[in-house]
Amino acid sequence: MKLGIIGESGLYDLEGLENAAWQEVDTPWGAPSDAILTGTLDGLDMAFLPRHRRGHALAPSDVPYRANIDALKRLGVTDIVSLSACGSFREEMAPGDFVIVDQFIDRTFARAKSFFGTGCVAHVSLADPTCRRLSNAVLGAAEAAGVTVHEGGTYLAMEGPQFSTLAESRLYREQWGCDVIGMTNMPEAKLAREAELCYASVAMVTDYDCWHEDHGAVDVATVVRTLQGNAEAARNLVRGLPERLPPARTACSEGCDRALDHAIITAPEA
Ligand code: ADE
Repeated sequence: MKLGIIGESGLYDLEGLENAAWQEVDTPWGAPSDAILTGTLDGLDMAFLPRHRRGHALAPSDVPYRANIDALKRLGVTDIVSLSACGSFREEMAPGDFVIVDQFIDRTFARAKSFFGTGCVAHVSLADPTCRRLSNAVLGAAEAAGVTVHEGGTYLAMEGPQFSTLAESRLYREQWGCDVIGMTNMPEAKLAREAELCYASVAMVTDYDCWHEDHGAVDVATVVRTLQGNAEAARNLVRGLPERLPPARTACSEGCDRALDHAIITAPEA
C-alpha cells in the first residue's frame, strides 16, 4: 500500500519523512495543485499533496481535482486521506474537533467531476463514498493524537468561495441533516472512487458556520486561527497512521479497489 495525504492550508509538508523529495508530476488533466512530496514514514510509502498549493494560492473551485487524483494514482498511491477545514452544524462538533466524514451531499457546480465522458461512459457506485477500513485507521490515529474526534458525519460540499447565507446554513443543518460544511471534498471523493482508490476524509472543524446564534458570521481570521491549531493535531494524526495500516492493500467492503469492475457501460468497440 502507498498512502496519499491531501493536505489543507497550514499543513505544507510531512515531518519525519525518510528519503523525502518533491516530485513534479504531469497528467492528461494538467498539472496537480503542486509538486508532490514522497518518502517513507515508519516503513510506509507516502505521497503528500498540498491541495491549495503551498501558500494557499488556489481557490476551492480552481483546485485541479482530476489532476490531483490522477497524479497520486500515477505515483502508485492506493489509499488517500483527505485533510480539510470545515464549518460545523452541530453544537457538539466544536472548533478544534475532527470529524471522520462518511457521507456527502454535493452542491458544487463549477468543477469537472469525472474521468469519464463521451467515448467511455462509466457509472461507479457511491452509496458508501468513504473506505471503512481506512477511516477506522484514521479514527484510531486521531484518538491516539488526543484529538476530540467524531466517527461519521455528513459533509455538505459547497462551491464557495463565499461562505453560506443564514438561510442556506439553516437548510443544510435543519432540513438536510448535514453535520459539517466545506468546499473541497467534492468532487475529490468521487474521483478517488473512479480511480479505484480508497478515500477517507478528516474534516477539521474551524467554526460553527453562521447558524449558531452565539457565534455569528464566519470570517477568515477565525478559520485561519483554528486551522493553525488543527494543523499540529493533523501532523500527529498522520504520524500514527503507518502502525495502523497493513503493509499490503486488502480488499475493502465498499469495493473501492474494484469500483470499475461493473461500471463501464460503453461497448469496447464503440
Ligand atoms: N471551511 C471552513 N469553514 C467553512 C464554512 N463555514 N463553510 C464552508 N467551508 C468552510
